Amino acid sequence: MTMTTRPRVICHMLASLDGRIVTEGWPLSPEGRRQYELVHATYEPDGWLCGRVTMQLHFAGGVRRDTEVAREYGGAPRDDFVAPGDHESFAFVVDPRGKLRWESNDIDGDHLVAICNERVSDEYLSALRERGVSYILAGTSDVDLPLALDRIGAHFGVRTLMLEGGGGINGSMLRAGLVDEISVLVAPVVDGRVGTAALFDVAGASMSPRRLALESVEQRSDDVLWLRYRVEAT
Ligand SMILES: NC(=O)c1ccc[n+]([C@@H]2O[C@H](COP(=O)([O-])OP(=O)(O)OC[C@H]3O[C@@H](n4cnc5c(N)ncnc54)[C@H](OP(=O)(O)O)[C@@H]3O)[C@@H](O)[C@H]2O)c1
Repeated sequence: MTMTTRPRVICHMLASLDGRIVTEGWPLSPEGRRQYELVHATYEPDGWLCGRVTMQLHFAGGVRRDTEVAREYGGAPRDDFVAPGDHESFAFVVDPRGKLRWESNDIDGDHLVAICNERVSDEYLSALRERGVSYILAGTSDVDLPLALDRIGAHFGVRTLMLEGGGGINGSMLRAGLVDEISVLVAPVVDGRVGTAALFDVAGASMSPRRLALESVEQRSDDVLWLRYRVEAT
């Protein structure tokens, strides 16, 4: 039997009734918004993972110039890097080409781990190491998401991982069959803004609709509904 170190993945999101996820401007009380963190904590996860765009908008220290990002590495395979220190919880960012700059290796007490492809430059990796940011190198063009998840388990001992947006990374992970559960907090809000990110966004026609099995429904503060679904095997 093949042993896998892949963690259990729960996609945890706050969405409008129409499935959109850009929450700025939503008429929702602070208590309603707080349900996101409260429900997150109930899973007692070891870490959380976001796409490059979400991290750029909410957490990164800046963005590298296009000319820097374009400098690609073509040499022998390089090792992943696990920064020294005792880290108990982790923030993972899928940033395939190393676009993001980081000033610190800590996001609200969670150790930062960048997941890039194997072409990112030595210069970028050296900057990550200088700041104590760990990294995983997986894949040659995008990121090899199954491999990255195996390494998340193997290097950092993560058993329960919250996948927390945005729609692009959620869509990639779902399409790759890597999401075990979906936990959606449905806000009592209709967004209606065409073109804003949705729970699962996959470009092109490569996505097959997925059947889900309802696990539970719970009404929370401010009329927020917590829906839990198991993703059925294809
Ligand atoms: N309501 C909520 O709970 C919630 C939670 C999180 C985020 N959000 C919102 O969601 C919005 C952002 O969503 P988004 O869909 O635009 O961006 P995103 O999912 O945060 O990031 C997308 C990026 O991730 C990388 N990526 C995705 N799939 C990949 C793959 N298979 N391999 C390698 N890299 C991959 C790509 O980076 P590159 O472009 O560098 O290639 C892609 O552009 C923001 O407005 C944020 O506030 C809402």
